[in-house]
Amino acid sequence: MLPSRRAFLTYLGVGCYATRLAQALPAAEFPLRRRRGQAPAFFEPIAPSNADEVVVPKGYRVEVVVSWGDPLGSKAPDGSAERFGFNNDFVAAFPLDALGEGKKTEELVLWVNHEYPNPLFVSGYSPLEYALGKKKTAAQIQAERLAVGGSIVQVTRTKGHWTLTPATTAKLNRRFTANYPEILLSGPAAELLKSATGTLANCSGGTTPWHTVLSCEENYADYNGYDTQEYFFRWADVPELAIDETRYGWVVEIDPFGQLPPLKHTALGRFKHENAAVTIGPSGRLVVYMGDDEVDQHLYKFVSAQPIKKNASRAEQRQALQAGTLYAADLGKGKWVPLVWNDKTKKTITSSKPYADAKKLDPAFQITNQAELLIHTRIAARALGATPLDRCEDCEIHPKDGSVYVALTNNTRHGNLFGHIVRLCEAGDNPEATEFQYEVFLAGGPQSGLACPDNLAFDRDGNLWVVCDMSSDKMGKGAYKPFGNNGLFVVPTAGESAGDAFQFASGPVQCELTGPCFSPDGSTLFLSVQHPGELSLTQANPTSHWPEGGKAMPRPAVIAIQGFKA
Ligand code: FEO
Ligand code: CA
Ligand code: CA
Repeated sequence: MLPSRRAFLTYLGVGCYATRLAQALPAAEFPLRRRRGQAPAFFEPIAPSNADEVVVPKGYRVEVVVSWGDPLGSKAPDGSAERFGFNNDFVAAFPLDALGEGKKTEELVLWVNHEYPNPLFVSGYSPLEYALGKKKTAAQIQAERLAVGGSIVQVTRTKGHWTLTPATTAKLNRRFTANYPEILLSGPAAELLKSATGTLANCSGGTTPWHTVLSCEENYADYNGYDTQEYFFRWADVPELAIDETRYGWVVEIDPFGQLPPLKHTALGRFKHENAAVTIGPSGRLVVYMGDDEVDQHLYKFVSAQPIKKNASRAEQRQALQAGTLYAADLGKGKWVPLVWNDKTKKTITSSKPYADAKKLDPAFQITNQAELLIHTRIAARALGATPLDRCEDCEIHPKDGSVYVALTNNTRHGNLFGHIVRLCEAGDNPEATEFQYEVFLAGGPQSGLACPDNLAFDRDGNLWVVCDMSSDKMGKGAYKPFGNNGLFVVPTAGESAGDAFQFASGPVQCELTGPCFSPDGSTLFLSVQHPGELSLTQANPTSHWPEGGKAMPRPAVIAIQGFKA
């Protein structure tokens, strides 16, 4: 029925009034802050910064512990002096007596990943030479091969200052590089691949209950190639220095105490491994959560075949990483999909589009057994229904409730410029479960104050610490302008501020803060300052001078932040 004339006029009148009211209001607020609570009492948040320095809250202090090029006092297999590598990333800290009482909190053994070289600083090969298509020399590639991998370094706190333990007593100091040591593979693909020369692309990682490190090989595909659209390291310019990519992209287990030989565990799959968050399920099985950091790739979980026996030796405990089930997450169904080769999955995988696409690129490509499935994990995961995600970086397990937090950095393909953090709760709070629920915990953006969450860490109170990875070429520009340099944020997970981000630190120019790691007594936060001055075009005129200042070249370094109440 038509409205009466009077009702129609009233409607128009209200409409006009509403328009006038809207015009009288102030301009729309931007950003629309969604913070609900107060910052944790232990610090006063800082503002975003563009300064070429590490900024921390009042009452906290920063010192450099070890930086690129520092001599370790150890020797390479050829007798040359070993030095701390480039682009430090994941940091793990163990008391020097971790295999005993674990009380030595002033003497620590650090494992530090060295993710990738910046050729300008490491080998003297400049961005201009890359743009001109100049080939690298063997000496340049060798310098870069020695700058990646990881370092074991002993550190000591004396009178409140963390420094390298004198080389005469730091007997555990040792390097892993792309040249050495030779590392055996374990698990289903070991029969095919046997061993790998060293390790590279070591991004983030994790630790095991038996005090070893899981170092994750991420961007292994960046090393051989050359392309004018993307940056590669051109190691195949000297064919004998090219890498065999099937030997990388694994999780490498390293014993910082030197008792157990390193192993690449193929049961955990091969992809761009970001990190490995480890827990033990109610049956005693080992559970490892892992992200694959590339747009539209997946989240994984490994559950060991056997429980870890009580009083087992370290060598026996590590066997948990050698056999088990690898799953990929189907977020839509809330299910962990087992990546297992059998008659049913064989049909699904080999008739899938990802399989056909891989075959088009390489006619020799095939998956015919579990070993090959693990070498090509992504293709099996996609074919079997895993959910494509927005760059899966760190996963961490909440120390109090066991839920799993996963950082998804961004995906500009889908307009997700700022990333988000999701939270998974396993069915029955059982990490061995095959079903889960998930929610978005924190959305990046101007409204929350952080963009592109990457590495995560929990403190003892259950606060989530988040470092950000806006790419250097976008930082401070366009949609990323409000955020300043890459920073470190504290996000409470309980109380009225749960899910609110408060900035704790800001890094120097064009750096990424990575590898946040609390010391065993909780009094120090170790943090990697990676790639300061990353976009420098010449050594003489770098874009950052951190940490030495003046006209110095920038140096990636591990810092210690103190001021926490132990
Ligand atoms: Fe190496 Fe995914 O960061
Ligand atoms: Ca990372
Ligand atoms: Ca990253």
